[in-house]
Amino acid sequence: MIQTSRHYLEMDKTLFESRFTANPCLESPIMPSVKFVNEKKTIEVPQGSNLRKEALKAGVELYPGIHSILNCHGLGTCASCRVIVKEGTENINKQGLLEKIRLFLGPITFFARFGNEDTLRFACKTKINGDCEIITKPSINWHGDRFWG
Ligand code: FES
Repeated sequence: MIQTSRHYLEMDKTLFESRFTANPCLESPIMPSVKFVNEKKTIEVPQGSNLRKEALKAGVELYPGIHSILNCHGLGTCASCRVIVKEGTENINKQGLLEKIRLFLGPITFFARFGNEDTLRFACKTKINGDCEIITKPSINWHGDRFWG
């Protein structure tokens, strides 16, 4: 009786291993690609990963000037990691309430939002769920069509 149970356990183990090692989907998980337009660099990242962390890991400079030292390190308060999602907005998480409030209340981010209401994001608050294109350190469009009227 004991020998029979052991036999079944061995069979289950073999069946389990063959199912999970032979499945190509499980061996190669989906890796969204993120293209940094200005840097002309494309990286593959794990699904659900944080844009700021992955960019810094890949050596992409998110922060302009002195903000590379003086930033909030991902707390979502300094707004210096802002990026524009050029393509693939459907593949990133939606803006959270705090991010929306910070974008609206900040004097620079308030103006930077014009024309980019849905695409201006904080890299530190952006989760990547699929392919996307990112513009780092976006300039403020002072002379843009939608800024003055
Ligand atoms: S690092 Fe400060 S808002 Fe993203």
